[in-house]
Amino acid sequence: MSSTAGIKLDLSGLGNFLQPGELEAMSPRVNTVAGELENGSCPGADFLGWLDLPERITEADFAAIETSAARARQDAACYVVIGIGGSYLGARAVLEALGGPADGCPEVLFSGTGLCSATLDRVLARVRDQDFRLCVISKSGTTLEPALAFRLLRNELVKKFGRKEAAGRITAVTDAQRGALRGLADTEGFETYIIPDDVGGRFSVLTPVGLVPLAIAGVDIRSLVDGARAMREACRTDDLAANPAHLYAAARHLLYEKGFTTEVMSTFHGDLQMLQEWWKQLFGESEGKNGHGIFPASTVFTTDLHSMGQYIQDGRRNLQETFLCVRSAQGYLVVPGGDGDNLDGLDYLGGTSLDEINWKAYKGTKQAHLAGGVPCTSFEVEALTPAVVGGLIYLFEKAVAVSGLLLGVNPFDQPGVETYKKEMFGLLGKP
Ligand code: PA5
Repeated sequence: MSSTAGIKLDLSGLGNFLQPGELEAMSPRVNTVAGELENGSCPGADFLGWLDLPERITEADFAAIETSAARARQDAACYVVIGIGGSYLGARAVLEALGGPADGCPEVLFSGTGLCSATLDRVLARVRDQDFRLCVISKSGTTLEPALAFRLLRNELVKKFGRKEAAGRITAVTDAQRGALRGLADTEGFETYIIPDDVGGRFSVLTPVGLVPLAIAGVDIRSLVDGARAMREACRTDDLAANPAHLYAAARHLLYEKGFTTEVMSTFHGDLQMLQEWWKQLFGESEGKNGHGIFPASTVFTTDLHSMGQYIQDGRRNLQETFLCVRSAQGYLVVPGGDGDNLDGLDYLGGTSLDEINWKAYKGTKQAHLAGGVPCTSFEVEALTPAVVGGLIYLFEKAVAVSGLLLGVNPFDQPGVETYKKEMFGLLGKP
């Protein structure tokens, strides 16, 4: 069990699946690829800006984002974040993990995450009678889904406030120079933030891509970055046993080589569902190349124990499971004592907190899955704070970089994503 910045990594569940000394023997390989990351000699070296991002964010960066957020909170009941993939998942994951916007902050909606007209229509209907603002996020500035959503939502904003005031209610987070969104923002005079060239979408949550929407929602972005900075420090050591990102990467890689080719991230905390989605993109898009890669999947328990539990317990044995568990979900609910007749049979739980019951469900599930032949790793945290969430983000970013390099792929590109676009644009007759 290793513990860093409030995050415990427990690999004791791998005892029956790895040979003694096997994990330790990974150390030279891990240190080689980690060294290539640090000295910029790995594949995809143009996209390593995320590595030291937590140290590079300045007081001026925080102040600019916080000042603008305070202004926006004064005239917006609703804030719509428009983006897809790495341009929204991080912000949404952090916001939901921390329980949503703080009191007095606008409701935050996410749009541009697909092409379904019913979904977009619901967002349009929701904002129509409210004072709202838009934050459109796209590094390329040309992605179809957010561009279309932005066109429709901006129309609504212009109808309500006129073109000039609408422009004052729009923030664009995009490339410094390239893309249609940059041209539009400069022409119309939107507030803008730049996505650094050397940070790819799925690694961008600690840039304005994540920090701008999170600040509007009242998240303590300084603590978030502090947590990432602490984890960055912890994940620099060559001592495998003391480096949680390297340990996790090494363990899952060894399991992959033994045929455990699907990794299920399981949680017992419903607010972590979007963090799982962010994790799936991070690992799926970084590793799934050239016929390689662990397939990332997720389950929220105990809900999914009643749907996917059977397969995990007893289906094809190619699954490794990574638990992400929270000791105190801070719901503070306690089972009421009974009135003596025990008709519902629950008196044995009277006075027990729901968190305690959920924790026992986690421990019992892990024992069951281990017995069923599923290698289980756990990340355990006491509570979800901004610093802990920031630490988790950095840990997983560093882990996927090491893990992708161990697989022999470039973890920082996504050439396969272009294939569907080519087919779709062909059918749409894009000039
Ligand atoms: O990780 C990535 O690079 C992708 O998920 C992108 O973030 C996503 O495709 C959106 O791209 P863009 O920000 O250019 O609109």
